[in-house]
Amino acid sequence: MEERKIETIYKVYGYDELTAEDRELVDAAKQMTQTSFAPYSKFHVGAAIRMDNGNIVLGSNQENAAFPSSLCAERTACFQASALYPGMPMRKIAIAAWTRLHQPEETPHELCFQKKPISPCGSCRQALLEYEAAYGPIEVLLYGREGIAVLPSIASLLPLCFTTF
Ligand code: THU
Repeated sequence: MEERKIETIYKVYGYDELTAEDRELVDAAKQMTQTSFAPYSKFHVGAAIRMDNGNIVLGSNQENAAFPSSLCAERTACFQASALYPGMPMRKIAIAAWTRLHQPEETPHELCFQKKPISPCGSCRQALLEYEAAYGPIEVLLYGREGIAVLPSIASLLPLCFTTF
């Protein structure tokens, strides 16, 4: 028997420590939360993907009364990115979320953003992984008011991942 260890190392930056380009990506993800269609969860998620050509492709969560027909912000963004720019590497994805649930009504909007970052769900990790495996690493920037977690790749969020058959 052999024991193997899986470790995930990530960095946490203050907003001001990010490069101007990364601040722009995070701001775009935050801005996109405004386009979320979330009448059921009232949890508004935005995603912004930096393409290899420097362009930003955006997404937000879109819910449906038939719940499983909904789509997360990350998949909305990466499917849109691949549809607009087939074959182009996706260099980075930024994700942000806010909700007014459990907040006093007068809470300023900025303070409704998650204190700690949210991280993509398993299905979004799997979908993003496919593009990463095909076109190279996608850095992940997870916005939280207390700091932005930065991971080097989607695979670092999905150990022992399934990519080929
Ligand atoms: N959601 C996302 O869009 N991305 C995530 O990373 C987590 C969850 C959405 C799905 C649903 O519309 C709402 O947030 C609550 O789960």
